[in-house]
Amino acid sequence: MTARTSIHGEWSTRLAFVLAATGSAVGLGNIWRFPYMAGENGGGAFVIVYLLCVALVGLPIMMSEILVGRRGRRNPMDSLRQLASDDGRSTVWQYAGMMGILTGILILSFYSVVAGWALAYIPNAASGIFAGATAADTQAIFDDLTANPWALLFWHTLFMGMTIAVTVRGVRHGLEKAVRILMPALLVLLLIMVGYAMRIGEFEQAVAFLFRPDFSALGPQGVLAAMGQAFFTLSLGMGAIMIYGSYLPARTSIPRSAVAIALMDTAVALIAGLAIFPVVFGSMLEPAAGPGLVFVTLPLAFGEMPYGSFFAVLFFVLLVFGAWTSAISLLEPVVTWLVERLEFTRVQAALLAGGVIWLLGIGSVLSFNAWAEYTLFDRTFFQMLDDLTANIMLPLGGLFIALFAGWVMTRKTSGGELAGEPGWFYPTWRFVIRYITPVAVLAVFLNAIGLV
Ligand code: TRP
Repeated sequence: MTARTSIHGEWSTRLAFVLAATGSAVGLGNIWRFPYMAGENGGGAFVIVYLLCVALVGLPIMMSEILVGRRGRRNPMDSLRQLASDDGRSTVWQYAGMMGILTGILILSFYSVVAGWALAYIPNAASGIFAGATAADTQAIFDDLTANPWALLFWHTLFMGMTIAVTVRGVRHGLEKAVRILMPALLVLLLIMVGYAMRIGEFEQAVAFLFRPDFSALGPQGVLAAMGQAFFTLSLGMGAIMIYGSYLPARTSIPRSAVAIALMDTAVALIAGLAIFPVVFGSMLEPAAGPGLVFVTLPLAFGEMPYGSFFAVLFFVLLVFGAWTSAISLLEPVVTWLVERLEFTRVQAALLAGGVIWLLGIGSVLSFNAWAEYTLFDRTFFQMLDDLTANIMLPLGGLFIALFAGWVMTRKTSGGELAGEPGWFYPTWRFVIRYITPVAVLAVFLNAIGLV
C-alpha cells in the first residue's frame, strides 16, 4: 500500500526536487507581485505579516502538500481521494484537489500574460531604449505595451507555447537541468541590482519602508493580501507542490526540503524589494503604482548602469525563466489529472489544458486596454482573477490541505512519511497543522469579511 509509484516518473535526487520546487516557488510572485503588493499595502506591516504567514501557515502546509503527494503518487484530486479511502475517511476531500486544479488554471491564465510582459521587455531592453530614460519614459514604455492588445496577445501566446512545450516532455527532462543554473544566476543578478539601487536610489528610505512596520496602515484586507501573497509565492494551496511531491523519492526528508524552498523563496522576494524600492523613492515614483511597478522602476536602474542594456536583457531573460519554471508547475496538476482520469496522452492533455488557459488569458490581455473600463467591485478582469485566486482560493485550498493532513489522515499514515525526523518534529508539526495553521487562516478570512 505504501509502495505506490507515480506513472509520470520520479526526481533523480533530493536536490532535483528542491530545485524544481524552488523553480515553482520563485517566479513573478517574488519579483513582480511581492513588491507591488507590499507597495499597495503600505510596506513594513505587510512584510511582517507575510513573513509570519510563510513560517506559521506556509511551511506546515508545504510539508503537508509534499507528504500527501508522495503518499498518494497521483494528481491532487486522486491523491486526496486515495489517502482518504486508505484511512477509511470520506472521499469528498477529493474536491479540494479539484478546486486546486481549477485555481491553477485561473492563475496561469493571467500569470502567462504578465510573463509575456517580461518576454516583451527582452527585445525592448536589447534595443537600448532604457539608456538614460527618465521615470516618465519608462512609464510610457510600459503603458504603450499594455495598451496594445495584439502585442500582449503575441507574448502571452509565445509564453503559453513555451510552457506547453516543456510539459509535453515530462518532468525529468529539461526542467531539472534548467533550474540548476538559472536560479542561482537570477539571484546573483538581483544582488547586482540591489547594488545599483543603493547607488542611484534612496536605500535607507526603502529599508524603512519595507521593514519598519506601521500596523495602523494595514487593515484586515491588507492582512488577507499578505497571507494570499505567502500562498502565491510558495506555490501553495492548489496542488503544484503536491504534484512535485508525488515524484519525490521515498527516503528524502520532507521538512528539510520545505525549509530550504521557503528560505530561498523568501530571500529572493526580499532582495527584489531591496532592488526596487530605492529606485521608487529615488525617482519620486509611487510605491502603490500597481502591477507595472517592477517594469517601470528596474529599467531606470538599468538606464544608469554601464552595459545597462546587456544587464537588462539578462535580467528579463532570467525573469522569464523564473516565470517559466513556475508556470510549468501550474499546468502540471491539470495535465496529470487529464492523463490519469481521462486517459489522455501527455501531449493531448498539455495541449488541451494549455489551450483553455490561453483562451482565458485573453480576458486578462483585454483588461489592460479594450476592457479596462469594465470593472466589478472596482477591479478589472485581471485584478479580479489575481485577487480571487490568491486571496480566497489558495488560502481555502491550503486550509483544506491542513485539515486533511492534520485531522483526516491518521497518525500512522502521516507519521509514516515523517518517520526519519528527530523525535520532537512529528508532534510539533502535527500540533501546528491541526491547531495553529487552520485557526490562523480562518482568523484572517473572518477578519477580512468583518466578522472578527
Ligand atoms: N509561486 C510562483 C511565483 O511566485 C507562482 C506559482 C507557481 C503558483 N505555482 C503555483 C502560485 C501554484 C500558486 C499556486 O511566481
